[in-house]
Amino acid sequence: LANVDLLIVGAGFYGATIAERAAARLGRRVLVIDRRNHIGGNAYTETDAETGIETHRYGAHLFHTSNEAVWRYLRGFTGFSAYRHRGVTLHAGKVYSLPINLGTICQFFGRHFSPDEARALIAEHATEMVGRQPENLEEKAIAMIGRPLYEALVRGYTAKQWQTDPRELPPGIIARLPVRYTFDDAYFTDRFQGQPLDGYTAIFERMLAHPLIETRLGVDFFDLRDEVPRDMPVVFTGPIDRYFDYAEGALGWRTVDFENQVVSTGDFQGVSIMNYADEDVPFTRILEFRHFNPERAYQTEKTLIAREYSRFAGRADEPYYPIGTAADKAMLARYRARAAAEPNVHFGGRLGTYRYLDMHQAVAAALKAFETVFEPMFAGEGSAA
Ligand code: FDA
Repeated sequence: LANVDLLIVGAGFYGATIAERAAARLGRRVLVIDRRNHIGGNAYTETDAETGIETHRYGAHLFHTSNEAVWRYLRGFTGFSAYRHRGVTLHAGKVYSLPINLGTICQFFGRHFSPDEARALIAEHATEMVGRQPENLEEKAIAMIGRPLYEALVRGYTAKQWQTDPRELPPGIIARLPVRYTFDDAYFTDRFQGQPLDGYTAIFERMLAHPLIETRLGVDFFDLRDEVPRDMPVVFTGPIDRYFDYAEGALGWRTVDFENQVVSTGDFQGVSIMNYADEDVPFTRILEFRHFNPERAYQTEKTLIAREYSRFAGRADEPYYPIGTAADKAMLARYRARAAAEPNVHFGGRLGTYRYLDMHQAVAAALKAFETVFEPMFAGEGSAA
């Protein structure tokens, strides 16, 4: 740790962005450590040995943003393909378009509706919620899309995803369930979208290639914590509760188990992600990785798929989605108070702040922290390079 100006724990989007900026813009010597044996955090992609198809080890990653600064920044490290995500869900043997749009409504009710007719129909299906404040997820969904569509496309999927009856879940979880009264079936409406041309891992290789950055993999912060000088600035993107030895308790997370399978066909499902809306199917989705990169000439004898199973995370599991119960929120506030008493440690990223962040949000937050925390911190000290 001698000759290091900044220690960064975690080589995901948050840590890599601050590392790259501190080295390239401020000439600082940065040490990035990650306890995994690879860079990229949860956005890590790798080539499957058997099929040659690029896989996303920690779940499907689709890049989208309307933040021009983030887009410009990342384009310094990668080109993006023209990929535009479109969602589909399977219910009772039929396939429907997601997010729910006029096409979904016409498919589901089996006839043509104009936008006004569709609005009137959904309003009629939601009359049970008129004048009532939704008290749980089920009521909120019915208020937005009516009972028939809720029961077919949302109830089973949500129950599987949360292992909880939607009547027991808070309404806020689906506050943004979009319903479109047009035939626009684009999954994301962001200005900038696409998949990185050489995969996500290549972005991190290029960000961390700066000569002032050293990356050490397979290194757990808690194994070298005692050697870190007290005045060394640290960016910590691991779990905030782990940092404080769970002194206030363990924050709740959900995880996903992926069951990979090589199938002897050139195309298993014709789309990158198929949702399974029905509760009697145990998995929530099937990913087919080749469809994330339709521009590539992959082999056509085999394809790689992954079934996703959602469950509560134990301490040894990968934390994926913060649950955020009232108890979690109170606990987080206590951890934040502890964090405020550690002025040299900056907690960031999805694990360090216990927030679900999309990739573009992690990069935006890191660029902001660089400007507001690290630039001023190192200003006036003179460049160490
Ligand atoms: P990230 O988790 O990537 O990195 C943290 C790193 O810290 C990890 O590599 C970890 O090993 C390391 N670490 C932790 N503790 C440590 C310790 N003690 N010592 C050393 N290292 C330690 N976003 C999006 O825009 N589009 C999408 O489609 C998806 N899809 C998606 C699917 C799933 C299943 C999940 C869970 C998430 C997504 N995301 C996403 C979100 C995306 O993964 C997220 O924005 C980034 O991972 C955030 O980057 P961070 O750097 O914050 O964390």
